[in-house]
Amino acid sequence: MGQKKPIIIGHRGAMGHETENTLASIKSAIALKVDMIEIDVFKLKNGEVVVFHDDTVDRLTDAKGHIEDFSFEELRKLVVKGGHAIPTLEEVLDVMDAEVDLNIELKGANTSERVNEIVESYIKQHGWKLQNFIISSFRWDELEKMREVNKEIAIAVLTGEDPVDAIPVAKKLNAVAVNPSYKQLTAENNVKLKEAGLKIYPWTVNEPQDIIKMKRFGVDGIITNYPERIN
Ligand code: G3P
Ligand code: CA
Repeated sequence: MGQKKPIIIGHRGAMGHETENTLASIKSAIALKVDMIEIDVFKLKNGEVVVFHDDTVDRLTDAKGHIEDFSFEELRKLVVKGGHAIPTLEEVLDVMDAEVDLNIELKGANTSERVNEIVESYIKQHGWKLQNFIISSFRWDELEKMREVNKEIAIAVLTGEDPVDAIPVAKKLNAVAVNPSYKQLTAENNVKLKEAGLKIYPWTVNEPQDIIKMKRFGVDGIITNYPERIN
């Protein structure tokens, strides 16, 4: 099996070191020399796209409730564990290094159109390139909407099940990758994904024995909380 070097993808920034999906986490991932950063996004009712993982604010703040039910002003008053604010997608892009690519996971429904607008504005006005972005989601319907609004942008199909089941939708979406749980990746389905011409970016790979296994599979990148463990 191949032993090519996988790219290093910081999970929610570098959540092994700083509170996930915060600007501190993004900066930590950059300092750890990642090739790509993965973040999660929701869209609020006013159209603001915020970077946050959970459906609710309960785990990471002292408040309670569904993130999409907060106004932007209310959400910005919340303090995320460690004393952080919930950042917007634009704020993340503003602290990103030009050498580091961004994997935007569409967590919320109806996120694709606004995310695409923001991506396009950063390409037009801030020197970003389309190749710097990859859009992923477990919401395959949302990926379909993204493909409708942007025929060129790279798409990765996320799945927690047998990744072979994601091949048809990946083909339909002209996706570049399937991003499986590393626990679901086997010698057999790894080969099938490769034969389908798809890149493989497993998540969330933190332990040395699992990193070694993914490298033996010849995956294209490893999504990890601890970027320094991949080299
Ligand atoms: O993008 C891979 C990984 O982040 C998916 O799972 O729950 O961490 O968003 P989750
Ligand atoms: Ca994610």
